[in-house]
Amino acid sequence: MLTRNLDILHGEFREELNTRQTLVACMRVAVLRLGHRPERDKRITTHVGLVARAFGAEEMLLNGRDAHVEESLTDVVKRWGGSFRVRADISWKREVIRWKEAGGKVVHLTMYGSNLPGVIEDIRRCDDILVVVGAEKVPAEMYDLADWNVAVGNQPHSEVAALAVFLDRLFTGKELLDEFEGGLKIVPSPKGKQVLYPNYGV
Ligand SMILES: C[S@@+](CC[C@H](N)C(=O)[O-])C[C@H]1O[C@@H](n2cnc3c(N)ncnc32)[C@H](O)[C@@H]1O
Repeated sequence: MLTRNLDILHGEFREELNTRQTLVACMRVAVLRLGHRPERDKRITTHVGLVARAFGAEEMLLNGRDAHVEESLTDVVKRWGGSFRVRADISWKREVIRWKEAGGKVVHLTMYGSNLPGVIEDIRRCDDILVVVGAEKVPAEMYDLADWNVAVGNQPHSEVAALAVFLDRLFTGKELLDEFEGGLKIVPSPKGKQVLYPNYGV
């Protein structure tokens, strides 16, 4: 469950934030990690999951199983709150087709796609969005199944960076104010570290 820290906001920005809340209320975002290779992608796939959670997605789907990735992300949710889930061992194609049949849209992030600024307004309608990020080589079929193939700049970089920028543009930056229920809380501070441990009443 996500809530926004409205107390620190005022006036116009507070108004704008309500737009984000409306978006969140009607839009479900999940991330599909395609082509995970357990022998070399553990860390980067974990980071895809961390970014998905921190930047407002509800769930990560993983084709194949990787206990390390699943445990790391489950542990973060346990400590830091919210209801982000990892669903492993899925068939990517079946999930993509099912998502579309249920009325959702599929955005595949690839440097070959339409550049983000040109399409984000269309994507930011109140539909459920499945964001697909690849590893080494993405099957050609994915490009056809996607409603949008989207480039975060037409240069090669990283699925972690592409996902972060995409979600930030999708949620217009307001996801950075999300609070996650039931976990540790950081008190933003100009210096030092301040952490609240709600389970211990501090
Ligand atoms: C190691 S990169 C492979 C680059 C790849 N040939 C491609 O199609 O973007 C792994 C993943 O990072 C993401 N990615 C890398 N650069 C990107 C960019 N400029 N725009 C969007 N996604 C990108 C894609 O999801 C890609 O499948």
